[in-house]
Amino acid sequence: MEILDGKLTSASIKEEIAQDVAKFVASGGRKPHLAAVLVGENGASLTYVNAKVKACEQVGFDSTLVQLPVSISEEALLSEIDKLNKDASLDGFIVQLPLPDHIDESKVTMAINPKKDVDGFHPENIGLMALNLPTFLPATPFGIVQMLERYQVETSGKHCVVVGRSHIVGSPMSILMARNAYPGNCTVTLTHSRTVNLKEICGTADILIVALGKPEFITAEYVKEGAVIVDVGITRIADDSKKSGFKLLGDVKFDEVAPKCAFITPVPGGVGPMTIVSLLKNTLQAAKRTD
Ligand code: GUN
Repeated sequence: MEILDGKLTSASIKEEIAQDVAKFVASGGRKPHLAAVLVGENGASLTYVNAKVKACEQVGFDSTLVQLPVSISEEALLSEIDKLNKDASLDGFIVQLPLPDHIDESKVTMAINPKKDVDGFHPENIGLMALNLPTFLPATPFGIVQMLERYQVETSGKHCVVVGRSHIVGSPMSILMARNAYPGNCTVTLTHSRTVNLKEICGTADILIVALGKPEFITAEYVKEGAVIVDVGITRIADDSKKSGFKLLGDVKFDEVAPKCAFITPVPGGVGPMTIVSLLKNTLQAAKRTD
């Protein structure tokens, strides 16, 4: 069994980005600039957004955190987005999800200028991705693809089972793993809450990508010997023995699943750091764009 180490892999990608930024700036380019919009004070979202901002600093980007109150109206948020769209000093921005219930996420996503949509969530960018045309890939699926590539995991002809059909992870992941590319060329099964015989289907996976949000749901019974396991889940569980007051659990019961696998991502230190470097890569791509 080999660990797919997101911490290590993301650190080396960050170094590559930092070198690329230095070259870009030395040749007269402006520092890439990312803004992150956070609505409300959800603890996990705040942690993720802060990690994104910190990562920008590490690679020589400028970053701006736009914090808005949970009570903000949809109209006021859309007008903030309009300002960011028009702000020529910004290469890209993201709106951290989830948003409060009174705000329509799809309206917000569609209001973002696709050229600044470094999360790759706008329908135009999802469409380009589905057609295998150049665009911003959604950060978590992009991070997973890069991890598989760095560890040279064989994907062609394999059965990839994706658990969870969210717009952020499961759906785009299923598209990327099926496309005619490396990593890709898998036979993909996309499973979700209405799937019958989930355990049996997962048990046939050569590559199992789990983005369910149910801590330790995937036990050894779900996993074929020699499978590749990618665990996207990251749930906070109260734990008084930790300074933070919580521990993080993935969707996979690591201790019993790991001995059966060829490769597995840990939580934390697996997919999470890869998501952040993918966002940085998209922002650098946005900064270099000339159209
Ligand atoms: N919430 C969970 N993952 C993500 C992400 O990749 N981007 C944004 N904007 N929100 C998220």
